Amino acid sequence: MTRIEKQAAEEKRAKERTADRVYFFDTTLRDGEQAAGVNLNAEEKLQIAKQLAKMRVDVIESGFPAASPGDFNCVQLISREVRDATICALARTREGDIRAAAQALAQAENPRIHVFIATSPIHMEYKLKMSPSEIMDQARTAVRLARSLSPEVEFSAEDASRSDPEFVVKVFKMAVEAGATILNIPDTVGYAMPEEFFKFCRAIIEGVAAPEGVIFSVHAHNDLGLATSNSLAAVRAGVRQVEGTINGMGERGGNSAIEEVVMCLKTRQDYYGLETNLDTRRLYPVSRLVSRISGVVVPPNKAVVGANAFAHEAGIHQHGVLVKRETYEIMKAEDVGSTPAVMVLGKHSGRHAFRDRLEFMGYNLDDEQVTKAFESFKRLCDEKKEATDGDIAAIISDEIFSVQPEFSYEFKDYSLSVGKGATTCAVTLNRNGTETTASAGGNGPVEAAYASIKRITTIHPRLERFKISATSEHSNAMGEASVVLSLDNVRAHGSGASTDIIEASIRAYVNAVNRLYSTAAVRKISLTSIPEKEAQLSAPR
Ligand code: KIV
Ligand code: ZN
Repeated sequence: MTRIEKQAAEEKRAKERTADRVYFFDTTLRDGEQAAGVNLNAEEKLQIAKQLAKMRVDVIESGFPAASPGDFNCVQLISREVRDATICALARTREGDIRAAAQALAQAENPRIHVFIATSPIHMEYKLKMSPSEIMDQARTAVRLARSLSPEVEFSAEDASRSDPEFVVKVFKMAVEAGATILNIPDTVGYAMPEEFFKFCRAIIEGVAAPEGVIFSVHAHNDLGLATSNSLAAVRAGVRQVEGTINGMGERGGNSAIEEVVMCLKTRQDYYGLETNLDTRRLYPVSRLVSRISGVVVPPNKAVVGANAFAHEAGIHQHGVLVKRETYEIMKAEDVGSTPAVMVLGKHSGRHAFRDRLEFMGYNLDDEQVTKAFESFKRLCDEKKEATDGDIAAIISDEIFSVQPEFSYEFKDYSLSVGKGATTCAVTLNRNGTETTASAGGNGPVEAAYASIKRITTIHPRLERFKISATSEHSNAMGEASVVLSLDNVRAHGSGASTDIIEASIRAYVNAVNRLYSTAAVRKISLTSIPEKEAQLSAPR
């Protein structure tokens, strides 16, 4: 497409933005990934992005290219591989950020640069140390530059909800003149109250009186548990783009949960009278995919996508639902894709059935990856008769998404000796073709194994979270371990699966160590390593 054709297409799309349609802007891969302990590699982000596009979100915010080379590469990869959604990249008002965003988005079919700067007194004075007129000037230059490099520009007034509405109106008017067509109103710290936020958004929308083709957007955080309510209040006020994440994943209390907002609009269509393009039947599989890949667990009582969201325990409710479903169910499980399709694959299942299952579960793997996963699946079927969805997901996260940088450790073997009051574990890891074995004692097998790994790696991260769960309710289920480690202000999660829970725990720890290294490398931090002798002395016995 030539530049002029692209411009014409963008103008056409802008005109098509009808007043009764709400657009979904998914920022799971950018704001969601800022959640503590979450760092996704390029392959993982691509898998999620493909599923978001399949679910028909309108915009995918794929990263913040100026933040790190890793982020840049992810945005580039998603721009190249994912069609059917606008691909967006975040940028501060700095020239370098905007050029990096444009460069990373170069191959996107429908690119969007998202420029932001704070407008609240507290952010302007303490964080940016800039006056309101400096903010105006910098934002103007930034939006103009972004517009010269991208057919579509979104402008965000960070911390808008704590800003002077008159100032936000002024900044937004300027942003429209400079070329922005999406004006985002963030409740950055989750401070707003729904009724107040409704009035705030109304005042902004009326004050800006934007020309046709410009839409307002909301970006709510969940610090007080009000992100969904505030997003809906903004929609009632006239906002037509909602930003959020899958499962509400994000920094602190998280972001607005897309599944909640869309199901409110759908279930209460009578109240809102608005349409969306999202295929809500993909919500549950995408929620599971994001949870498995990020290691962020979905609480069972989570609205819409929690395991119990459609479970009725009380006899009186069960009876009611059996007689007439609507007595206690306001949504259908099928409408969010959560019908429990328990299909069990086993040793007689072929590659074709295996691939179909992967696709149903939301994985989009190439032939080589399917072959690798299928081999592990067959090995697993030799150990246990059947493999459930949970087992398959564990194989994928372990084999396909595990980080494999040159410096990564690979689990080889372990042996355990359990005596009276003492457990000793010897672990063997491979790094760059060299195998190292170390052994250490501990209060139990997992503690002893982790002490051994510390001896090999010579880094002593803090174990912030350790969780082990069965991948299904059968007694021969695989164990899936997930850990979060932190060291030198770097946090990383890791997961590992095996029919042997000690091995699963070791794999998860090694996976997290590798992620610690790769995150530290991206941030140009060298992790504090304890010299071998000292490490041996300090390791628990
Ligand atoms: O929370 C926020 O204000 C943001 C902006 C970058 C939109 O994430
Ligand atoms: Zn945010």
